[in-house]
Amino acid sequence: MAQRYNSRVTRSFAWPVLTAAVGITFLGNAAGGQQPWVPTPISFQDSKPILERLAASVPPELAARSSAELESAWSGWVSRRNREIRARLERGDEDSIVNFLLFGATFTTRPRGAEAVQARTADLISAIASPVGNERLQFVREVVARRGIDPTTATGREQARAYFGELVARVAGETDGYAREIQAVRSKPNGPEFAVRSSLYRTRGLSSDTSIRPDFAIDRAIERLVSMGLIKAASIRRVGVIGPGLDFTDKAEGYDFYPPQTTQPFSVIDSLRRLGAARTNDLRLTTLDVSPRVNRHLEAARERASRGESYVVVLPRDRESRWRPELIGFWKTFGSRVGEAANLSLSPPDGVDVRAVRIRPDVVSSIDARDLNIVLERLAPLADEDRFDLIVATNMLVYYSVFEQSLALANVASMLRPGGLLLSNNVLVELPTTPLHAIGDTSVIYSDHPDDSDDIVWYRRQ
Ligand SMILES: C[S@@+](CC[C@H](N)C(=O)[O-])C[C@H]1O[C@@H](n2cnc3c(N)ncnc32)[C@H](O)[C@@H]1O
Repeated sequence: MAQRYNSRVTRSFAWPVLTAAVGITFLGNAAGGQQPWVPTPISFQDSKPILERLAASVPPELAARSSAELESAWSGWVSRRNREIRARLERGDEDSIVNFLLFGATFTTRPRGAEAVQARTADLISAIASPVGNERLQFVREVVARRGIDPTTATGREQARAYFGELVARVAGETDGYAREIQAVRSKPNGPEFAVRSSLYRTRGLSSDTSIRPDFAIDRAIERLVSMGLIKAASIRRVGVIGPGLDFTDKAEGYDFYPPQTTQPFSVIDSLRRLGAARTNDLRLTTLDVSPRVNRHLEAARERASRGESYVVVLPRDRESRWRPELIGFWKTFGSRVGEAANLSLSPPDGVDVRAVRIRPDVVSSIDARDLNIVLERLAPLADEDRFDLIVATNMLVYYSVFEQSLALANVASMLRPGGLLLSNNVLVELPTTPLHAIGDTSVIYSDHPDDSDDIVWYRRQ
């Protein structure tokens, strides 16, 4: 099931840039070698202007309340909502399992896709009975165990079959629903397609999927910003990546012939160095993610890097996927400033070319992985020199409503230095009280397939 995360900007889209920005008060500095900043819930004071201006789209439990009532309910609502958002990770895990079940090739020899779903399900259940040495199978086993299912027993196998059947049906229904939602706005003249796309997954499970596509789109946006002088040479020192993701079963093709991996943090460092935007030897990147799976993966990579181990990124390319030459060029040079091409013995499916890059340990060590829910939290207190010059957030704000996106934007603004940039492939509602406004965008076409494109919007902190 190919699932892409396009959120194309319709060219006629008028940026809802509003005026009269209100400054944000930053919390004080904390000196010392150790990073003192911690995830800090968004205060009522910072949320109040959003609650007031987006009154029509606040959650029902916060609607039609006086300011005093909202203030006393606020911190309780933030804690509750934080738990609810984190609970969506479980459904995202299940979505990844469906991709793996339909497209994985390490546990079965059946044809890929939905036609062989029953035989594939039986093979997956046999495989998770002894998942030794296979990270993906171990993960599927953990997820079924959470539901009290033991695939080593006859009853457990039957329960697993029913469970996977339900998952496949749910994901198929949801995918169909998203397609219909897009179709419905497309059929209206001047339909707000980009706005609809930008919140399309607001009720969906939080997936960790990622691929080379958004890495390429961010590279193109940085290139444009550098060429326009909006990013000065060697000016970027602190970078944040919100939701770096984990490629569990590649979302476009469903490949599983290499270990789960993350690419965006490495790709952003690579792009900044290649394009002359990074301050040499002084670039630090912080990932901010709500998923323990993503955070543990990055922490383990850093731990291995401290012992001198590199991190291997595997980049598949299906020759039939009709990638544009620019994306092929990016794929061919990916990682040249952060590592070296590696020769690995991998067994990709027929028709799939593979590049592997060994990322140097010093690069891996420059990445700091933080648990943070950007909708409801920010890192604070941030000293001036710790504020971000650049924050990247692709394919993650689409999981939230306009109200939650606006809270996220306020949190992002609080962590950016004045003049700092947020790059996102979402169009976000801009409020005059949040000092972050769109100043342009970069359109990127990935392949000759219809709609295989993205728009990266550049938001600048005032
Ligand atoms: C679909 S992946 C996108 C990965 C990558 N950025 C890309 O464009 O391919 C979404 C990522 O955002 C993370 N995420 C979702 N909601 C988040 C939140 N509220 N705060 C921080 N991270 C979040 C997920 O855990 C996951 O790592």
